[in-house]
Amino acid sequence: MFEGFARVWSVVGLSEELSRNNPLGVELAGTPIVLFRDNEGHARALVDRCPHRGVKLSLGKVVDGCVECPFHGWKLDGEGHVCNVPWNPDAKLSTLRGQSLPTREIAGQIWVYTDPFEAPTYEPTVDERLLAPGVRVSGLSIVWETHWTRAMENMLDWPHLPYVHRSTIGRGMRDASAKARMDITCEDRPWGFHTKIAIDGAEQPGSLDLRWPNQMNLDLSNGGRFMLMFVSCIPIDAKRTRMLLAMGRNFLTSPWLDWAFNWSNTKIASEDKLVVESSFPTEIPSASDEQSVRTDKPTLLFRKRYFAELARSSAGAAEPSERRRALPIV
Ligand code: FES
Ligand SMILES: [Fe+2]
Repeated sequence: MFEGFARVWSVVGLSEELSRNNPLGVELAGTPIVLFRDNEGHARALVDRCPHRGVKLSLGKVVDGCVECPFHGWKLDGEGHVCNVPWNPDAKLSTLRGQSLPTREIAGQIWVYTDPFEAPTYEPTVDERLLAPGVRVSGLSIVWETHWTRAMENMLDWPHLPYVHRSTIGRGMRDASAKARMDITCEDRPWGFHTKIAIDGAEQPGSLDLRWPNQMNLDLSNGGRFMLMFVSCIPIDAKRTRMLLAMGRNFLTSPWLDWAFNWSNTKIASEDKLVVESSFPTEIPSASDEQSVRTDKPTLLFRKRYFAELARSSAGAAEPSERRRALPIV
């Protein structure tokens, strides 16, 4: 389970995607997950595999805060306990169990921890402005045919803006890009790092954050108007990444206007998609295998941490068969 992506919190969906009545199936690093809401309305997650005959629970429905398997109707609660087995009133329910996953719901996002066996060692966090009352969070997903690390590095890359996004968010930088100097500052934060740019010494508005391991926050706020674009690069498997493009804003907060923000995010992400999917190899290689310059600092910082944590996670395994490409936060 969770090959190459174990022991981290990852966003797997937005609150608005998970209704009270229907389960939602998602894929995270090769592991199918079913999300549903319990009787209190809390988001819950199980490995999307019925313990009876292995079918997808997400094809069933939500009944009394439990997910009901579509095959023989077993009901599983948010802890994975089997609460009911049709036709078998004498079944020993305490011996039957699905696999639950730690789940959190914060600021319109649903997070799952990618280790069902050990308790999380930290908690997911968000930009605190997203927690303010009245902030509207909306978004949608598109799939890129690439490893999540390539997608994530693209999200941390300032210099591509006037080239890939020449007619959208990079339009204003287009004239300066050939001759001007870009300086990027990267500051460590408990949750990752925070970057800003200056062009020919003039600090530019906006900032771009890495929220380790797989979320980018782009602050587009202007005066009292808060607007944060946050993109989660959710690994589906080794070759596909679900890009969850979300926006948090404290103006134009009517859900009727979500389409406008989603449309512009989709357009920008489709500009990146074509270029990033052409990267070879599909997964980021070590820094020495590609040529880099000063303005690659954020992506190189990401790459350094990625390889360091992969190495650390496999170093303690006694047997090669026990080695798992985990990605722990330490
Ligand atoms: S396969 Fe799920 S109840 Fe039989
Ligand atoms: Fe881009």
